[in-house]
Amino acid sequence: MERPDNLILVIFGASGDLTSRKLIPALCSLRRQNLLPEKFVVLGIGRTKLSSEDFRKKMSDAVRSYSEDIVPWDEQIESFTENVYYYQMDTYSITEDPWLFVSYLNELGDKYAVGGNYIFYMATPPSLYEPISVSLARSGLMNQEKGFRRIIIEKPFGYDLESGRNLNSILHGIMREDQIFRIDHYLGKETVQNLLVTRFANGIFEPLWNRNYIDRVEITSAESIGVEDRGGYYDSSGALRDMVQNHLLQMVGLTAMEPPSSLGPDAIRNEVLKVFQSLQPIKEEDVAANVIRGQYTSSLVRGECLSGYRSEKGVERNSRTETFVAIKFYINNWRWGGVPFYIRTGKRLPTRVTEIVIHFKTTPHHLFQREHGKLSANQLIIRIQPDEGILFKFDMKEPGAGFNVKNVNMDFHYSDLANIRVPSAYERLLYDVMMNDSTLFSRDDEVETAWKFLEPIQKAWENNKSIKIFGYPAGTWGPEHASDLIEGEDLDWRYPCKNLTDDGLYCEL
Ligand code: NDP
Ligand code: BG6
Repeated sequence: MERPDNLILVIFGASGDLTSRKLIPALCSLRRQNLLPEKFVVLGIGRTKLSSEDFRKKMSDAVRSYSEDIVPWDEQIESFTENVYYYQMDTYSITEDPWLFVSYLNELGDKYAVGGNYIFYMATPPSLYEPISVSLARSGLMNQEKGFRRIIIEKPFGYDLESGRNLNSILHGIMREDQIFRIDHYLGKETVQNLLVTRFANGIFEPLWNRNYIDRVEITSAESIGVEDRGGYYDSSGALRDMVQNHLLQMVGLTAMEPPSSLGPDAIRNEVLKVFQSLQPIKEEDVAANVIRGQYTSSLVRGECLSGYRSEKGVERNSRTETFVAIKFYINNWRWGGVPFYIRTGKRLPTRVTEIVIHFKTTPHHLFQREHGKLSANQLIIRIQPDEGILFKFDMKEPGAGFNVKNVNMDFHYSDLANIRVPSAYERLLYDVMMNDSTLFSRDDEVETAWKFLEPIQKAWENNKSIKIFGYPAGTWGPEHASDLIEGEDLDWRYPCKNLTDDGLYCEL
């Protein structure tokens, strides 16, 4: 793989959680694989008072704590952090008087001869994306005469349709769309990209991938953690904005899209956009029947007493922010007309798991006796995390007299590909920005269309106080009402376990 051109990566919000937990470990892994530019500098910016030396130490510790690489590589960490710098600044300083910062950055650029190439990463609270971007542009830093200038914007991109549109229009007023990389780290996950390969590299799936053979599609993204120390941010966001608007809808897009004409950035994103444009709007008056929201309450989980959401740090005591959401919707196009899509996500669920389940239709005529007399149908389960892999469930004859049929598993686990390292999502995405490849980043129109779909839900929750928010004990699968969404007698969500091949309400978590 090619190495990117020399550059400085400026991280706004460098003293925060994302930088320590994800960004710096990912950069260090890229360095280990020789995939960083020959001359590469990180300039971290935060409000906390730190010297560059303190910051280097903090980042070295972060790599040791959070890197998924298991080889001992102390020397490499030290050599990586040599070119890491810190600049203490409040947004106030950059919006009011950016010149000190600009001259510091340009000095670093000259010192390391990076040819004027800068990438700016917004790892700050979302309210700062706009003022920082505007100040960068005003200071001439988005001008590409002297080198490339790109900006990476973390999610959430806006708060609703109007704010998402506003942010797009402000950014478009000061830079070109191809300078903007809206990050959705789910698109950087190997297993999410493998969805494209599964669908479009294998001839057997495409003929079945439509309303004629598929009964319903289910996507779950469950987390066992609560809001931890992000209560302040999360309480004004909730699961709909934090997970559905971006990660879950992107998975819907890749599952439902038509085959792209190429792997070019616009070819894939055009097809995802068409899916978003075909989402059947849920009318405000239908929200209660199609969208279930919940909030975790305190509970004893495996001997540990877990707090309820309202007692978490930074959360309002009477908060009505949802920590769980499940939605039923349709995609109005020829491929998917009439096929329900069910998506759900939540914090403090029993286990951490993300998967896509394709439920195929049952056979038209039932010849055989099945286990417990119930009809079973084929399922294809694409496991995004953990125990990444693919599971196909189908019926087989039980050995012996008669024709007893048993549902069995055929499974592939990424871990079977011994010696192949699965790169972290941020590693892939940071490398792509450096290589100017925007395929795995959300485009302006995708983000706005996703907000448009969610707008009636946001409005209904805001305007109609009679729409319930259900409590669910921490460590359970969310409000029981989520099961009522699933159409069909005896049908329910799949209750996934830690291991891809097991499921059910009671299994290893
Ligand atoms: P943190 O609260 O941990 O960090 C925020 C950073 O922004 C800190 O460095 C903080 O500086 C800085 N900051 C805050 N206000 C100002 C200000 N007025 N002027 C200058 N700097 C400021 O947040 P996270 O790192 O968790 O999240 C950052 C972004 O990344 C958010 O938009 C979040 O949605 C997104 N994200 C985070 C993920 C994660 O795993 N953490 C995952 C996916 C997305 P200081 O602390 O020094 O005051
Ligand atoms: C982030 C959300 O985008 O994704 C977090 O802000 C969530 O609330 C996280 O925990 C989940 O990411 P992953 O990769 O752990 O599934």
